[in-house]
Amino acid sequence: MLVPAAFSLRDPQFIQACYIVAAVCFILGLRGLSHPSTARRGNMIAAVGMAIAVIATLLDRDVVGVPLILLGIAIGTAIGVPAARSVRMTAMPQMVALFNGVGGGAAALIAWTEFRDSIDAGGGFALDTEIAVLFSTVVGAVSFWGSIVAFAKLQELISGQPIMIRGQQVVNGVILAAVLGGCVYLAAAGDEQSVFVAILALASVLGVAMVLPIGGADMPVVISMLNAFTGLAAAAAGFALDNTALIVAGTLVGASGTILTRLMSQAMNRSLGNVLFAGFGSAPEGGGAAAVASGDGSFRSTTADDVAIQLAYARRVVVVPGYGMAVAQAQHAVRDLAAELEKRGVDVNYAIHPVAGRMPGHMNVLLAEADVPYDSLKEMDEINPEFPQTDVSLVIGANDVTNPAAKNSPDSPIYGMPILEVDKSSSVIVLKRSMNPGFAGIDNELYSDAKTAMLFGDAKDSIQKVLGEVQAL
Ligand code: TAP
Repeated sequence: MLVPAAFSLRDPQFIQACYIVAAVCFILGLRGLSHPSTARRGNMIAAVGMAIAVIATLLDRDVVGVPLILLGIAIGTAIGVPAARSVRMTAMPQMVALFNGVGGGAAALIAWTEFRDSIDAGGGFALDTEIAVLFSTVVGAVSFWGSIVAFAKLQELISGQPIMIRGQQVVNGVILAAVLGGCVYLAAAGDEQSVFVAILALASVLGVAMVLPIGGADMPVVISMLNAFTGLAAAAAGFALDNTALIVAGTLVGASGTILTRLMSQAMNRSLGNVLFAGFGSAPEGGGAAAVASGDGSFRSTTADDVAIQLAYARRVVVVPGYGMAVAQAQHAVRDLAAELEKRGVDVNYAIHPVAGRMPGHMNVLLAEADVPYDSLKEMDEINPEFPQTDVSLVIGANDVTNPAAKNSPDSPIYGMPILEVDKSSSVIVLKRSMNPGFAGIDNELYSDAKTAMLFGDAKDSIQKVLGEVQAL
């Protein structure tokens, strides 16, 4: 028999082996998340990995108070499962913010517990463990409180406008310096719990003060950055607890969150510093009137029956979805219209801009929910060369991601942002409710282009009207 007689499920080597299996699951899960068609499976694999890691941890002889832990898991499940099942797609960013923040808070609390244990045991930490504990405390607290503010902004519990006092960045700098000073003091000599609690409190204030001045629409980028923070805090907690699974999971979250934050900033052609400190996205609601008045203001409006004729007799149509499609929840109507056009022999594709909407993969998720085939979704680099051969670009609640000012106007705040080049197609139909601007708060030159026609109204209503007209042809 190959299994030794003394083998036990609580054997440390068996637990380590479980952690390695869990780590492999996390990596395979992340890989699955790189494409919509494999994302669901990837999520399941990562969840299985987490279940293995949790069970292996509970088997560990050093882990005490298992009934309390199980109670915690039961409470978390009772809150998390219904919340995740009932969340609307448009509310997903704030749900991610909340879940992410809780992870950061947990890492900070674990660090506090470790600190207390070390005092109670009468001996200090080894320096490397103490650094991990302090890192986890500070970064976890910043992530928790920053995520709570992000949640409150996106949920409109507080204003989405940047909220800041004069000299806010200086105040933040002073708080950061005090936090770092406290950490250096504790790492060098001290073991006072009062200093530790002061660090925790100041880091919490820093988390709030860092996120309040950021415009609500920039929150997805901030949430992704805080997500990376949570991962790093968890990895540091893993070092303090000497837990391999926590180190691996935290590092993966930290690395992927950092990459995602970078990619999002790049796709908006803005630095992370600009996102964090520029108060972008603060254009007042209804600021469009002012914005349009500054342009020549000319545009051509059209009707559902005209649009129906144009679409039904086109050879190639490219649908360009944006944030407005998400607001209107028009994705099912869009799919029905596309199906009707395809029945008539029209070639229909979807152009996906990396930052269309308000969260990464926003359009992919909505269209997948409406069962639009993945093959019809074309990334920006793939679809842009096809616009010159496109008869009609149907822009549904997308604005900034189609704005030619990003190529033509060096003074524009979005100059340099890669866009979907719908202006190269033979004609453009834009569905939106008014001439109000999008997230960047600026005029869209596309609307005064001679080949563009505006169909005003809620995107879902408009699409349903157009569909009715196409069916009647
Ligand atoms: P936006 O530029 O924000 O434009 C959305 C348009 O949808 C608005 O002009 C609005 O015009 C229209 N709209 C809103 N509700 C509508 C409804 N019910 N029916 C029809 N139209 C409606 O959207 P976009 O083109 O998707 O660009 C995304 C912007 O968000 C970019 O500037 C990007 O940098 C930024 N951003 C993206 C992310 C991520 S990760 N995706 C994160 C942060 C920021 P009306 O009010 O006139 O209807």
